[in-house]
Amino acid sequence: MRLILVGFGRVGRDLAQIIADQYRDRFKVVAIVTGRHGSLADPRGIDLQAVLRGGLGGPQAGAPSALEVIDSTEAEAVIELSTLNVFSGRPAIDHVEAALKTGKHVVTANKGPIAWDYERLAALARQVGRRLLFESTVMDGTPVFNVARYGLRGCRVTGFSGILNSTTNYILARMEEGGSNAEAVAEAQRQGFAEADPTLDVEGWDAATKVAALANVLMGAGITPLMVERKGITGVTAADLAAARANGETIKLVCEAHPAGEGEARSAGAGSAASRLIARVEPRRVPLSSDFGRIPGTTSILTLRTDMMGDITIVEHEPALTQTAYGVLNDLLEIIGEEGPKWPRAKP
Ligand SMILES: NC(=O)c1ccc[n+]([C@@H]2O[C@H](COP(=O)([O-])OP(=O)(O)OC[C@H]3O[C@@H](n4cnc5c(N)ncnc54)[C@H](OP(=O)(O)O)[C@@H]3O)[C@@H](O)[C@H]2O)c1
Repeated sequence: MRLILVGFGRVGRDLAQIIADQYRDRFKVVAIVTGRHGSLADPRGIDLQAVLRGGLGGPQAGAPSALEVIDSTEAEAVIELSTLNVFSGRPAIDHVEAALKTGKHVVTANKGPIAWDYERLAALARQVGRRLLFESTVMDGTPVFNVARYGLRGCRVTGFSGILNSTTNYILARMEEGGSNAEAVAEAQRQGFAEADPTLDVEGWDAATKVAALANVLMGAGITPLMVERKGITGVTAADLAAARANGETIKLVCEAHPAGEGEARSAGAGSAASRLIARVEPRRVPLSSDFGRIPGTTSILTLRTDMMGDITIVEHEPALTQTAYGVLNDLLEIIGEEGPKWPRAKP
């Protein structure tokens, strides 16, 4: 299958390494396009090892944009790995749309299109008979959507709650060990867990985008990140955490969505089109002994509430980059019809 990679940063390079090492027989990358680091195309297949060693050659005057490359390149699938824009989902939405309209499947790790425009893009994919897959958009490659898609046939997801932003979880954990909010953010930046500008994480934007993506796919919510009630962790102090601990609790940035009235009497967030749905991100006290209370550092957790299977909890333990690239690979293998492990397995 011929692939176009839109974005060649951490995830794109990791995916290229996996393809070059293990999947050269099944996938051929025919174009790579980035924002500022150059582009490359070769209909016979790009030498990925060479690009991983030597780069893309830097910015080139007059180089085609991602949209031009998607429109003009013969390929079966586009992999959307460009930078997330939490405030509009663009230009990734345009990339996904252009890919589908030119008859290409899409795999995206960029959650913008799913959080902002899932319903329309999924309908377009159905209309043109192509797949739109996105397992890596929430909890990296850990199966979340695939659990619901393949493991819960006939079952309805009625809500969810989770800790889905590892940067804030790490910051809160550091604060619990003593130290101010600012010191914990600086430590997270030193460790590489927080960006130079940590606003999108600490103010809850990244988490709200994940809530919108999950609610749109699993609950048909049709919301955007702006419709998620959002409160970040900037106001949380070491004293708040100490007070919580004295009560056998801790503070976590909790993400959730559920029908209004379920377990509480609050109304939906301002601007929410779905007045029946509560979608929210906020720092909240949770018992230290609970599943959420025990989630350390960069680990994530998601509990799906279902009508027939009760609550199902998925934990992703301290992810590495490879998990995100794996999620993309898993989606690609799904598109080419590769089956899961063969059982019974041969004896080792
Ligand atoms: N890192 C993770 O663990 C992880 C986990 C889950 C999901 N994701 C999502 O996966 C995507 C990729 O993440 P990453 O960590 O690889 O990001 P990254 O290292 O920042 O790389 C982003 C890439 O996108 C390119 N790009 C930006 N705007 C573009 C445009 N308009 N057209 C074409 N290329 C463009 C950048 O090119 P230049 O650098 O040349 O501008 C760069 O190659 C993001 O949407 C992210 O939210 C990442």
